[in-house]
Amino acid sequence: MDRIVIRGGVPLAGTVTIGGAKNAALPLLAASLLSAEPLVLANIPDLADITTMANLLVQHGVAITIPAELASGARGGRGRVLELSARHITSTTAPYDLVRKMRASVLVLGPLVARCGRGRVSLPGGCAIGTRPVDLHIEGLRRLGAEVELNEGYIEARAPKGLRGAEIVFPCVSVGATENLLMAATLAAGETVLINAAREPEITDLAHCLVAMGARIEGIGSDRLTIRGVTSLHAARHRVIPDRIETGTYMMAAAATGGEVRLEGARLDHVEAVRRILDAAGVCVTEAADGGPEGAILVRRRNGRLAGVDVMTEPYPGFPTDMQAQIMALMAIAEGASMITETIFENRFMHVPELARMGANITVHGASALVRGVPRLTGAPVMATDLRASVSLVLAGLVADGETTVNRVYHLDRGYERIEDKLSACGARIERLRG
Ligand code: EPZ
Repeated sequence: MDRIVIRGGVPLAGTVTIGGAKNAALPLLAASLLSAEPLVLANIPDLADITTMANLLVQHGVAITIPAELASGARGGRGRVLELSARHITSTTAPYDLVRKMRASVLVLGPLVARCGRGRVSLPGGCAIGTRPVDLHIEGLRRLGAEVELNEGYIEARAPKGLRGAEIVFPCVSVGATENLLMAATLAAGETVLINAAREPEITDLAHCLVAMGARIEGIGSDRLTIRGVTSLHAARHRVIPDRIETGTYMMAAAATGGEVRLEGARLDHVEAVRRILDAAGVCVTEAADGGPEGAILVRRRNGRLAGVDVMTEPYPGFPTDMQAQIMALMAIAEGASMITETIFENRFMHVPELARMGANITVHGASALVRGVPRLTGAPVMATDLRASVSLVLAGLVADGETTVNRVYHLDRGYERIEDKLSACGARIERLRG
């Protein structure tokens, strides 16, 4: 198993290019199932989770190719371009072996039922960050007229006469359930209204792509989405938005090390909540004047130590749960105390004992962690059981005295493209040890 070794203490300086958003690309890939005509997606990041979703789609019968005009080696700008053609869906079952690797596999359920009248997806089960049920996905499909049963570990949904529009009120905000039902509703007869829908930029991106495919959606960007069903969707091209969590993570890397970094292709409007917290902690985040059409962000720590700031995770536009572990690494070296409260997932503090092994002073009380900043961390061998927890250990390693070895790097590879290359290009002493 690969490991990442970091020798801390170098302020980062340089440019990092931000890739396409993993959590936007995953539902967009699943959306290809909705149409018999091809969907071309640009700026797809090269990540393990994307490969898992592609493998799942291929076993449903989707043909995935690099478009002819790009096959000669050009990559259409940053990121990969993929053409997905779901002309013939050969299987409506998403098997356990693929779903257990990645919970987002459940996103094929809505499109399969909407297009084929049936879908069978293995129940994802729990995961490292909590129990994570899919009841809202199931209830929503029932509201759209599907019969849904749980059988031998599978969700089996049937709508032989097609789905029909309905009003769906989400009792709590769910990114995945909003995406699944938004996709399903595009082909349902009549009008669907999703109330208390998630508003994450990844959902807005999905909605824009669906509109390009011929879907009729109003209220994009709000918590109330109105979808008027159409009988079929058509071919489209779409470019995936930049990854706001990758952006935020590198913002924190610059802040932690006291360096100055330019994030190329990043969108400041998608990381406003993170910018506000960093500003209060003593970090200056601005839009680069010469960012070009894709934009760029500049990050620079003001003089002196970071200041402790209280943080609470919330659905977008609040502070993202996917940045909670990273801000904790930062607060671990800040001056003063910080209370970090996790409101989205019940078990997302696995990084705490690992940060403590590096000298952090953190006490967890239920959903809150009290972080008392220390002047310095010390390197240690560490590991984590999820993606964002792992990257928080990389951030801690970048500022720690001595050597930090982050084990179980495959978690990082699920969501951070070439992280060791991007950081070492800014001067970090970081390398991957294979095997
Ligand atoms: C998405 O997960 C992201 N994954 C997660 O990113 C992210 O942490 C999460 O949204 C919250 O922002 C993808 O986009 C692929 P939810 P998702 O449904 O859709 C509860 C990362 O590191 N809930 O918004 O699964 C649930 O248990 C990952 O990239 C139900 O109770 O999250 C949680 O407490 C990790 N019933 C809350 O809602 C349901 O049917 C929010 O979950 C669905 C969710």
